[in-house]
Amino acid sequence: MSGYFITFEGGEGAGKTTILHNIHHKLESLGYDVLTTREPGGIDIAEQIRKIILDTNNTKMEERTEALLYAAARRQHLVERVLPALEQGKIILCDRFIDSSLAYQGYARGLGIEEVFAVNQFAITDHMPDVTLFFDIEPKKGLERIASNKNRERNRLDLENIVFHEKVYEGYQILAKKFSNRIQTINADQPLEQVEEEVLDCILSYLGR
Ligand code: TMP
Repeated sequence: MSGYFITFEGGEGAGKTTILHNIHHKLESLGYDVLTTREPGGIDIAEQIRKIILDTNNTKMEERTEALLYAAARRQHLVERVLPALEQGKIILCDRFIDSSLAYQGYARGLGIEEVFAVNQFAITDHMPDVTLFFDIEPKKGLERIASNKNRERNRLDLENIVFHEKVYEGYQILAKKFSNRIQTINADQPLEQVEEEVLDCILSYLGR
């Protein structure tokens, strides 16, 4: 496949969604063919699954059910959106992918990183990202950022307490070590413009290789 699959990862309030959209425009203005998408969602069936997973009324949802629904949404999105775009040689910027499941369900929910990886392997059939950017910011600071953003939707995962978000952060740190060839850590605890610059440099140096 001739395109590039780049994923953006991190806890809540790390700034990755805003930056992803700005980077899309910058790369386009440099002449790259870019597709921006997100998980869970990005296409109709996966957006429907997203609604079920993130519905604040679904407090009864069991951990494995949650992991399987994310994996199901991932499969459909991969097949319908990511793989065709890769075939067309596009650069795909995806807001979250498998590492979210490994950090949130595998580590923070306690299902096990290896176990959740195995379930996801069935869903992604070896299509791992080429590069993953981990937006590194302490959970407390990230949560403060989202608390001050009144336009942001509040979902079921936002109902979790700080201890859960600290575990997610720990999970990402473990993943950054485990997959050090693929995951690049970005210091997200700086003004957005600076984070954006770091992200752009990182992507351009990867594309230039
Ligand atoms: P977001 O679109 O605001 O990032 O919301 C998605 C939420 O779902 C966020 O709290 C992270 C969580 N999530 C998982 O727990 N596992 C996953 O595999 C994915 C993709 C997201």
